[in-house]
Amino acid sequence: MKKIVVLTSGGDAPGMNAAIRAVVRSAHYFDIKPFGSQLGYQGLVDRKLVPLYPESVANCIQHGGTILQAERCMPFYEKQTRDQCRQFLQQEGIDGLVVIGGNGSFRGAALLQQEGGPPVIGIPGTIDNDIPGTDYTIGFDTARNNALDAIDRIRDTASSHNRHFLVEVMGRHSGFLAVDVGIAGGAEVILIPEFEPSVEAIAMKLNSPKRPKMSSIIIVAESAQPGRSIHIAKELEQMTKLNFRVCILGHTQRGGAPTLIDRKIASQMGYMAVKGLLDGINSKMVAMNRDQLSFTPFPDIDMPGRILTQLDLLELNEVLCT
Ligand code: F6P
Repeated sequence: MKKIVVLTSGGDAPGMNAAIRAVVRSAHYFDIKPFGSQLGYQGLVDRKLVPLYPESVANCIQHGGTILQAERCMPFYEKQTRDQCRQFLQQEGIDGLVVIGGNGSFRGAALLQQEGGPPVIGIPGTIDNDIPGTDYTIGFDTARNNALDAIDRIRDTASSHNRHFLVEVMGRHSGFLAVDVGIAGGAEVILIPEFEPSVEAIAMKLNSPKRPKMSSIIIVAESAQPGRSIHIAKELEQMTKLNFRVCILGHTQRGGAPTLIDRKIASQMGYMAVKGLLDGINSKMVAMNRDQLSFTPFPDIDMPGRILTQLDLLELNEVLCT
C-alpha cells in the first residue's frame, strides 16, 4: 500500500473534513502517499489527483462542508466511465481508495472494485443517517443540532404570537432527523415517511377540546418531496381554520461547524479506513453499531436506504406532547 486516493461524494456532511484529515494524517503516519480527488468521482473522470500532505488538512477539522468538495457524479454510473477511471487509477499506481459518502457513492465504489479497481473502503457520511449496516453516519449529529437550534428559535416566536408552525427537515426517504429533533424540540406532531398520521388526525389534535393548542410546532420530514409542508399547511388551514406558518430548514441543516460527536467519529473512521486498507480489508464500509466500530459489507446495490423501524420514539412523543 503505497498510494491511496480519498474523495467525498454525494451531498456534503459536516465532519467530512475531520474524516479527510484523519485519512491523510494516518496515511502519512503509515508511510502511504494520499491523494485527493476533487468533487468526488469527478476528479477521477477529469484525471486530476491532488497530493495531500499533513499540512494540507491543517485547520479544517472545525469547518463544515468538505475541502475536497463533493458532487453527485452521474457519469460514474456508466460502466464506460468507470473503466476509464479504473485505468487512470492503475496508471497512477493507486493501491487503495477511501470513499466518504452515502448510499449512491458506495454503489459506485463497489462497482469500481468489482470491475477490477483498487481495494476500497467506505466511510458513511450523510446527514440523513440512512445507510444500511451502520447506526451512525457522519454529519447526522450536526444536522440535528442545527435543526434543533432553529426549532427553538421558531418556538419563541410561535408562542409569542399564538401561531402554528410546520418546520420541514431534510432526511430524504427516512425520518431519523425528524424524530430526533421533534422529540428534543418538544414538537406537537412529527410526520415521517415511515409513519404519517392523517391530516385529519393532526387537525383534531390541534383543535382538541381537552387542550386546544394555542401554538404548536409540527415537524415534517421532507420524505424526498422537499417543500411538501406548504401543501400540508394549506390542508390543515382548511380543516382547522387556524393560521399556519411554514419554515423549510433546507440546507441550513447541512452547514456549519461539526459537533464534537461528528468530529470524533469521523476521525476514528478515517483512521480505521487507512488501517483497514493496510490490513488487506477490501470492499467494506466502516460502521458504527452499539458504539463499536467495525467493518461491514457495502449495502446491497439494490437495497433502499435505511429507514426507521423502531417507532417507539413516536409513541414517546405522543405521551409527552399532550
Ligand atoms: O442526502 C443529504 C440531503 O441533504 C438530503 O437530506 C436532501 O434530500 C438532499 O441531500 C438534498 O440534495 P441537494 O443538496 O442536492 O439539493
